[in-house]
Amino acid sequence: MTTDSGHFRPYHEAVAGRPPRPTLLRALAAFDAEDRVGFAVDLGAGEGRDAIVLLQRGWSVLAIDSDTTALARLRTRSDLPEGARLVTLEASFVDAAWPAADLVNSSFALPLCPPDRFPALWARIGESLRPGGRFAGQLYGERDSWAGRPGLTVHTRGAARALFAGWTIEMFEEEETDAVTPRGEAKHWHIFHVVARR
Ligand SMILES: C[S@@+](CC[C@H](N)C(=O)[O-])C[C@H]1O[C@@H](n2cnc3c(N)ncnc32)[C@H](O)[C@@H]1O
Repeated sequence: MTTDSGHFRPYHEAVAGRPPRPTLLRALAAFDAEDRVGFAVDLGAGEGRDAIVLLQRGWSVLAIDSDTTALARLRTRSDLPEGARLVTLEASFVDAAWPAADLVNSSFALPLCPPDRFPALWARIGESLRPGGRFAGQLYGERDSWAGRPGLTVHTRGAARALFAGWTIEMFEEEETDAVTPRGEAKHWHIFHVVARR
């Protein structure tokens, strides 16, 4: 799985303007219930379908993506609120560092990490969360069509849940569907949608 800048450009064009992910909305509802607004890191933010909602709700956001065009799209979105506290970083989240955060969000991006690098990335995510901070995002299961592609990490259900040992899992939904990707590719999806509190 390449992470070359440009590889995801057709994807970004296909999903432009789509609504935020349910995982992000679930995490935001939990923060709302705690009257907590803070700092979020969005790993693989793309053109910002999740980041934009965070910004509109007053969060500060560090959006990390390896695709410069996607980040430019985010910075120039017409629905960006005035005074939005947005910083973009063109980098691979596999290597990037980020400050302590209330939320690490990564929608449909975290599996795009080579398996041998995933444990360190996951440790960095956990260590970066402030007390009561949350992770929201997706992991791919071992029956996903893309399992076995170079550079892609998949998890069994047990291994996915084990990542959250010691956390409070607030959402853990397993999805298996045959569908077409935003780029028009037929695919068997095996996904874990997760929200968890550290
Ligand atoms: C499937 S898209 C998801 C985008 C967005 N989060 C969403 O939910 O629509 C994956 C995103 O991760 C980015 N990406 C892939 N590998 C990356 C890496 N190693 N570091 C940073 N961004 C990466 C791609 O450029 C793309 O924007």
